[in-house]
Amino acid sequence: MELRLDGRKALITGASSGFGRHFAGTLARAGADVALAARRIDRLQDEANSIADETGRNAVAVAMNVADVASIDDAVAAAEAALGGIDLLVNNAGTVVPKPSLQQSEADWDAVMDVNLKGAFFVARACAARMADSQGGSIVNISSLLGERVSKTEISYCVSKAGLSHMTRALAYEWAKFGIRVNAIAPGYIETDLNREFLRSDLGEKMMKQIPIRRFGTPEDLDGALLYLLSDLAAWTTGHVLAVDGGHALATP
Ligand SMILES: NC(=O)c1ccc[n+]([C@@H]2O[C@H](COP(=O)([O-])OP(=O)(O)OC[C@H]3O[C@@H](n4cnc5c(N)ncnc54)[C@H](OP(=O)(O)O)[C@@H]3O)[C@@H](O)[C@H]2O)c1
Repeated sequence: MELRLDGRKALITGASSGFGRHFAGTLARAGADVALAARRIDRLQDEANSIADETGRNAVAVAMNVADVASIDDAVAAAEAALGGIDLLVNNAGTVVPKPSLQQSEADWDAVMDVNLKGAFFVARACAARMADSQGGSIVNISSLLGERVSKTEISYCVSKAGLSHMTRALAYEWAKFGIRVNAIAPGYIETDLNREFLRSDLGEKMMKQIPIRRFGTPEDLDGALLYLLSDLAAWTTGHVLAVDGGHALATP
């Protein structure tokens, strides 16, 4: 058996930048047709075109606001129609409001939960309904090191990612009967639009020294875990949250 995804149909959320954009290319190079979802449709369209040119796979862009369940349902239906099905989901869209807890407003809290937790659930639900009606499928949720460890300025993010990791186990348990596997990756710190400023600061430099493998990660560092969990090589693996973090979760805070 190989780490290939030939002929699979994959939806990737948060594909307009960072990990999601990278993952869409990785999956297409492994043989999957891909639907790239996010709000910034122009960026998605450019990326989908360049993936299709490079790989010859079907690559399409769908507008999706994961904070809006109607938008999720419309976008998943559009992706299914464009690809001819969905059997892989990378549930990756995410956001953060970095503020100490005493300064987090109700709107800050809701903004993070709506994307990272509620949005992830409703995207998974929309895709699982289709997977259950066909051959089953595989879902990978992009959780975080901060679903396990804590931070002094990201309470809503930490709680949302802890919820997402637990949701991974709960859905794996519930959906195994439909042939749907649900796993998660818990990445450590990797420079993207989400954290560039922080990682390049003095505090970021200090944080890097706590990582047993003394460097921040790259999106490519996640590829092996992602392809493994999506592929048939992981046919008997479900409900697992795989840390890919240079050993950071092992370090004392
Ligand atoms: N970078 C890290 O070190 C790190 C570590 C652990 C976990 N993660 C997780 O990895 C995932 C990707 O993060 P990243 O670092 O690649 O960040 P990023 O570059 O900021 O990308 C975030 C993506 O999420 C999308 N998104 C945000 N709000 C959305 C909404 N309401 N509806 C639809 N899409 C939305 C954005 O697209 P639009 O703005 O176009 O909608 C964008 O494509 C996130 O879940 C993050 O929590 C990142």
